[in-house]
Amino acid sequence: MTSTETNTPAADGTEEVFAEADPAAKLEAKRVAFPAFPHVKLGPFGHLAEERARLDGLEWKHFTAKRVGATLGAELHGIDIIAELIDEQFAEVRDALHAYKVIFFRDQAFTPASHVAFARRFGDLEVHPFIPGNTGEPELVRFEKDASTGGYENGWHHDVTWRAVPSAGAILRAVKVPETGGDTLFCDMAAAYEGLDDEVKDRIENMNAVHDFMLAFGGQFPKDKFDEVRAKYPLVTHPVVIRHHATGKKLLYVNRFFTSHLADADGNDLRDDEHHQLLGYLCDQANNLEYQCRFQWRADSVAFWDNRAVQHYAASDYWPDTRIMERASIVGTRPAR
Ligand code: SIN
Repeated sequence: MTSTETNTPAADGTEEVFAEADPAAKLEAKRVAFPAFPHVKLGPFGHLAEERARLDGLEWKHFTAKRVGATLGAELHGIDIIAELIDEQFAEVRDALHAYKVIFFRDQAFTPASHVAFARRFGDLEVHPFIPGNTGEPELVRFEKDASTGGYENGWHHDVTWRAVPSAGAILRAVKVPETGGDTLFCDMAAAYEGLDDEVKDRIENMNAVHDFMLAFGGQFPKDKFDEVRAKYPLVTHPVVIRHHATGKKLLYVNRFFTSHLADADGNDLRDDEHHQLLGYLCDQANNLEYQCRFQWRADSVAFWDNRAVQHYAASDYWPDTRIMERASIVGTRPAR
């Protein structure tokens, strides 16, 4: 068989090379349409450079930070969060959370009580009405998966945006993890916002989104309880673009789990196809790998995420193995433009 038939280069050096440089050398350093699929863009996400450089320049007194993603995620080493933090350490951990958007710790053998105590340093804690715990600490929810369970964490979401005041952050500890798989991914929603075209940014600037617990938790309780639960957790409206209370960054704040539809600045529901498409497009921004980081768990690893700044996604690739996680969530403030 000849190399022409197999379409592989000839080993004898007779294959002719028609180009002089890498095809990308001719392209400007910006994103361009993929020839066969013009709606797909390829090339550098240049808008990440500034934030990446800013994070490169950070230094900390009480720990070292090993970066995980381009604009988000860092493993903090040299600090023990089970011990009570002095105020200066606490403030630095909080600043690191705001800077990296999600921070990770290894070998933190929290008990349920010390987990809750650490989380409480950052504010009041939520009790989740639809995910029970079994640790004796009502503020700790437990995700326990094995061969007999399904799951719904493998979709991009912010936690509890169906609350009028969604969580500011969440602290998740791995109790038991599979040998392989079960990573959690995070997406930088400031990068997602920044990467939108100006036209889309203008369109959503004053738009609102309606959030509903029913989309994800509607099957959790008996139908005859519906009116009672709905009265407690009515539909809530948040801006599509919010401003981070501490960093001032603009963040894309819609997610597939809980955002039911868009609404205009006066609160009128927008439910036509065009808006459905726009909501889908905005939610899809989290799929850009360049905005993401990925954390590989070990038992007693901890992830602490800023629930406004990132969405998260727990990869569900480990069935039928067991994966057990416990989470404490910190009460936030009302999201605002
Ligand atoms: C969650 O969605 O909060 C759980 C994430 C995980 O289990 O990794």
